[in-house]
Amino acid sequence: PLPAERNGALSTKDKPTKFEAATTYNNFYEFGVNKEDPSRLAHTLRTRPWSVRVDGEVHKPRTYAIEDLLKFPLEERIYSLRCVEGWSMIIPWIGFPLASILKQVEPTGKAKFVEFLTLHDPEQMPGQKPNFFGLSSLEWPYVEGLRLDEALHPLTLLTLGMYGQVLPNQNGAPVRVVVPWKYGFKSAKSIVHMRLVASQPRTAWEKAAPQEYGFYSNVNPQVDHPRWSQATERRIGEFLRRKTQMFNGYADQVGSLYAGMDLRKYY
Ligand code: MTE
Repeated sequence: PLPAERNGALSTKDKPTKFEAATTYNNFYEFGVNKEDPSRLAHTLRTRPWSVRVDGEVHKPRTYAIEDLLKFPLEERIYSLRCVEGWSMIIPWIGFPLASILKQVEPTGKAKFVEFLTLHDPEQMPGQKPNFFGLSSLEWPYVEGLRLDEALHPLTLLTLGMYGQVLPNQNGAPVRVVVPWKYGFKSAKSIVHMRLVASQPRTAWEKAAPQEYGFYSNVNPQVDHPRWSQATERRIGEFLRRKTQMFNGYADQVGSLYAGMDLRKYY
């Protein structure tokens, strides 16, 4: 169990997805490319000891043991997670604003982006082993990134739990980020390293297919994926599709981050 008070102001009123669905229908390519692979295979991930190194363009680089992170004041936030594939879930996450640790390490004036790196250990993460033909689904480790102002935004949650308990392995134990206005793949799982950097990181999905997965990847029903529309989504557990909202419904909070930017160019 991981107790936390609900932050009602930053929670959606929509009904949470069933725990069973949120923990058996996952994207976590380190454990395979099928939705049921992570729940079946992620038991090999060892989540203790675990630490997260935070360094790069900072005055006070620091390594946080998972126990240090669990001491921050935790809150529950019910967020909608919209996957780029066209489905969504409502998940009660538990964590604290990523900004809390970014402020502690004191970014230098050169820090413009935060790069997130997932654990790279094929013994624990069988999906990282090349297949028979020597091919891998992605380049490892999984890399994601945010602009510093996005990373500092109060909605960006460093996440340690969900549904009142610590994160199940398949959902990115023991620590991940959740960025609710962006497609789900921006929310990197099982993070071991955060690097503050001057130039835009090259993310795992950009390396795999740059014309399909841009750095920003803000949820935007008006900008289609090259192979499918992003106008609607299917809530897991529901039958009818619903309209996808600009910035996944968080436009009032985050729209100003992108004022004046052409969101077709910066997809
Ligand atoms: N993080 C890592 N390290 N590896 C992954 O394959 N998949 C992403 C994201 N974070 C992924 C990842 C994608 S595509 C989605 S939709 C979400 O995790 C899914 O999170 P969930 O399984 O907790 O719903």
